[in-house]
Amino acid sequence: MLRLSPGSEKRLWKRVRLSLCFLGLSLLMGTLTFAVYSCSSLTSWPLPGWTVMPLSIPPYKKPTPAPITQEPSGISSPQLPLPQSSFFVAYPHRYHFIVDEPNRCDQESPFLVVIVPVPPHNRDVRNIIRSTWGKHTTVLGQVVSYYFLLGLSSVGDGRQHPEEQILLESQKHHDILQSDFQDSYKNLTIKTMLMFEWISTHCPNTSYAMKIDSDIFFNVHNLVRMLLKAPRHLYMTGLVVRNAQVLRDPNSKWFVPSAVFPESTYPPYPMGLGYVFSLDLPRRILEVSTHIRAIYIEDVHVGLCMRHLGIALTDPPRGGLFVAAMPQTTSQCYWVSVITTMLWRSEQLLDVWKTYENQTQSDC
Ligand SMILES: *[C@@H]1O[C@H](CO)[C@@H](O)[C@H](O)[C@H]1NC(C)=O
Ligand SMILES: *[C@@H]1O[C@H](CO)[C@@H](O)[C@H](O)[C@H]1NC(C)=O
Ligand SMILES: *[C@@H]1O[C@H](CO)[C@@H](O)[C@H](O)[C@H]1NC(C)=O
Repeated sequence: MLRLSPGSEKRLWKRVRLSLCFLGLSLLMGTLTFAVYSCSSLTSWPLPGWTVMPLSIPPYKKPTPAPITQEPSGISSPQLPLPQSSFFVAYPHRYHFIVDEPNRCDQESPFLVVIVPVPPHNRDVRNIIRSTWGKHTTVLGQVVSYYFLLGLSSVGDGRQHPEEQILLESQKHHDILQSDFQDSYKNLTIKTMLMFEWISTHCPNTSYAMKIDSDIFFNVHNLVRMLLKAPRHLYMTGLVVRNAQVLRDPNSKWFVPSAVFPESTYPPYPMGLGYVFSLDLPRRILEVSTHIRAIYIEDVHVGLCMRHLGIALTDPPRGGLFVAAMPQTTSQCYWVSVITTMLWRSEQLLDVWKTYENQTQSDC
């Protein structure tokens, strides 16, 4: 008995649609060939050779993609009907930094810039980071600088000017970058793209940048050591995810319907908890981002941009450097052996850091 599951039924329909498309295309080609042939026979028969083109052929234009693909053009005014529009974010768009450090990166010329996306109200988390891995500003003789990237508070009234507290924090630490889009989980892709914008315009003498989430243990020393031996160009690494299934369950946190992204798996992308890249990439990513509608899953969007650029992601030199989930038990020298590990909560970083500092002192 042939019983089609909903999935295979969809696939069948896709195949039928494809065949119809193909048939239509063949008919069109046939007609065109006939037209060219008969026109040319009217004007210049016999043909002196196939290289001569009697009809003026319009210059090659990149074909406009069908309205529903993962990479439609014309994103400047995404007017897709609901629900598709809720899977994309408003980017590109002119956002403005309302709290900035316009000269710091240029003046410091760091080897590595670390950008930590964090919501405005998470001041405690910023302080924890400043007192743990954010302290490491010179590593193996290389300057490392840290910035927190904020949008507008969704808790507050969404005003277009920064809150007093943020300004005070910025004056004290000079590490706050705040832009005027609404900070929310669904807007993380905007944040990431603004990170690329900021780095590409403010850090002319920097080799690498790292995007890292705030609930991560980060061994800066190991990262710098790895980067000193890494390629300087077209380089992006981290926990590279390959063949990730697109989640079609509407209840999933990362649900994406096939109308928005028809492929069943994503192209390789660097897991958003922490990835590092050479500084020649941001400008390129920004250029291609005008051709790719910005999907709300930020690391997937970065992967889509990389695919469009034709630049492969690089795997870390060995496994176990970028860890997506903290192990239940960690071995004696665990924290000195990794680069990043996702923690259960941000606050845990204080304890883990003590253990790490102990480990660096011991024989690890
Ligand atoms: C994302 O940011 C834009 C620009 O500030 C805003 O209009 C939109 O409502 C935000 N979306 C979400 C889901 O927060
Ligand atoms: C770039 O940075 C290096 C070291 O980080 C420094 O020696 C050099 O002077 C800097 N160049 C400019 C133009 O700032
Ligand atoms: C650090 O090491 C000291 C002595 O070696 C030990 O007493 C202390 O408990 C250790 N702390 C942590 C957090 O592991």
